[in-house]
Amino acid sequence: MIPQISSFQQYQEVYNHSVNDPEGFWAEVAQNFQWRKPWKKTLEWDFATANTKWFVGGKMNITENALDRHLATRGDQAAIIWESNDPEEESITLTYKMLHQKVCQFANVLKKHGAKKGDRICIYMPMIPELAIAVLACARIGAIHSVVFGGFSAQSIADRINDAQCNIVITSDGSFRGNKEIGLKNTVDDALIQCPSVKKVIVSTRTRTPVSMLKGRDVWWENEVKTVSSDCPAEEMDSEDMLFILYTSGSTGKPKGVVHTCGGYMVYATYTFANVFQYQPEQVHFCTADIGWITGHSYIVYGPLCHGATSLMFEGIPTYPDAGRFWDVIDKHKVNILYTAPTAIRSLMSFGNQFVDNKDLSSLKTLGSVGEPINEEAWNWYNENIGKGKCPIVDTWWQTETGGIMISPIAGITKTKPAYATLPLPGVQPILVDENGNEILGNGVSGNLCIKFPWPGIIRTTYGDHERCIQTYFSTYKNLYFTGDGCLRDEDGYYRITGRVDDVMNVSGHRIGTAEVENAINMHLGVIESAVVGYPHDIKGQGIYAYVICDKDLEDKDLARKDILATVTRAIGPIAKPDKIQFVSGLPKTRSGKIMRRILRKIAEGETANIGDTSTLLDPSVVEEIIGGAL
Ligand code: PRX
Repeated sequence: MIPQISSFQQYQEVYNHSVNDPEGFWAEVAQNFQWRKPWKKTLEWDFATANTKWFVGGKMNITENALDRHLATRGDQAAIIWESNDPEEESITLTYKMLHQKVCQFANVLKKHGAKKGDRICIYMPMIPELAIAVLACARIGAIHSVVFGGFSAQSIADRINDAQCNIVITSDGSFRGNKEIGLKNTVDDALIQCPSVKKVIVSTRTRTPVSMLKGRDVWWENEVKTVSSDCPAEEMDSEDMLFILYTSGSTGKPKGVVHTCGGYMVYATYTFANVFQYQPEQVHFCTADIGWITGHSYIVYGPLCHGATSLMFEGIPTYPDAGRFWDVIDKHKVNILYTAPTAIRSLMSFGNQFVDNKDLSSLKTLGSVGEPINEEAWNWYNENIGKGKCPIVDTWWQTETGGIMISPIAGITKTKPAYATLPLPGVQPILVDENGNEILGNGVSGNLCIKFPWPGIIRTTYGDHERCIQTYFSTYKNLYFTGDGCLRDEDGYYRITGRVDDVMNVSGHRIGTAEVENAINMHLGVIESAVVGYPHDIKGQGIYAYVICDKDLEDKDLARKDILATVTRAIGPIAKPDKIQFVSGLPKTRSGKIMRRILRKIAEGETANIGDTSTLLDPSVVEEIIGGAL
């Protein structure tokens, strides 16, 4: 099993070793996995061309590590415990043996429909066991999965399918979220009008929502698994063969397909899982993320399963049937590790303690936070009311592109500090740089966060456009991976991530590009131009503020707002809907036509008293008008 750090002194020793001899360090970690053929070279890298290869020449399959390897030792242990949206519906436990069997069976269904190594398969599903099975079945046969979060629109699905040229889609009739029933297959049908590459759609049943099944293209999951055997040897994969694509937003309009490969990702997701959470045998790990995001990939599916852990998968939302649901799930399944997002914590905190006080949370040992900066108030509430002052909180900083946790306390070992991600994990070499890329040395400083040496989970490329990968991550600062985040390092050398320094917002822990939302708003008839910025929001962390210019005097502003929201929902999905829309007659632009977002951000933040220099604006009077109408 993966070596776990057991004291702070050991952390310091291991960290130093990992910096002095990164290849030696990661080679020792990787020995603990099952390889069909050993690697010939531990690392090859060149940040200038965005080329990183780990465990070069090694052959393996991640599902042999996540499933087969455990059959002899823990075949009857729960691999996945599934909790329904409906508290009355019985939960499901899949042991490692059962999960292995179901994955192999579904892998054979994929093969029956022509799937083979290297194909791209889109998965658009609710949080049901079939989602984890579908992901693992793709990995089993070497197909590259591209999971699209169930809240994205038909247009977003189509864009992602077309970018990766997927030939199969796996979906469900619908999903349950709180008291809502949402059609998924119908949305896929709308998407597929634009997707000629898709030849098959496999549909699992969840809601019994009426769906249309196209003869020759669509088949039912439940029928198909009956026609195949459950014997499916794993495909032999090279360490650097693609494992999955996961789309994420950046500063430009089009989401990019972040690519992770088999060997390095496996080693990194598993090592960080075992160490950050200090998972002990038989514990129950509950990560509340959706598998549609990287957190679900790494800490519901791959990390826990490769470590032989029990992973709890929850279909619902924290506030259904009431704001005590997480605590009920924890009590019911005796959860030991809870890993959730600050947005969820702040939202549950706002309901008051009556939903917590009478719950038995005594099984909890470790609490985690991910996805956005956690404010001190939320941190303290989490610590006192959920952890009862006894559970270490690991505030984990990382990104879709990093594959796994990068800066975080090690539970029970690193001394925590509210709102601080604290220290880098072994193998992670962060540095802070100024605008010109000069390293900022010493403590008590802040700057842009970069990483100066590759780790096994680093992004390998952006699917179909390697140049974009170079430009986005490796060109801003020479020979560094640039995270896009601002960060401070305090007097103790502890890191605190302060938020994005680019045009990316973080809304409820979801990454949304301002340009993406602007493009969506601009699609609406009557909109001439728009500018979108984030602003502080009590629950969501950031809210979306849109300044919109329309082509005529709007008679009914409320209706126009609703139309714009509907347009954004159709183009991206409800998560990207602006919280505020202000109609304006002009935007603050420089003489060269660049929108000065700094000013718009200040106005959205309500900081109109110190707007700063407006002398470079083409028409400074526009600022007064915008301030006058600010929401
Ligand atoms: O700004 C950082 C923020 O989330 C961004 C990454 O988003 P995504 O790729 O969607 O991955 C989210 C889950 C790993 C980062 O650039 N972020 C993530 N974790 C933290 C954070 N900000 C502050 N503190 C964190 N712990």
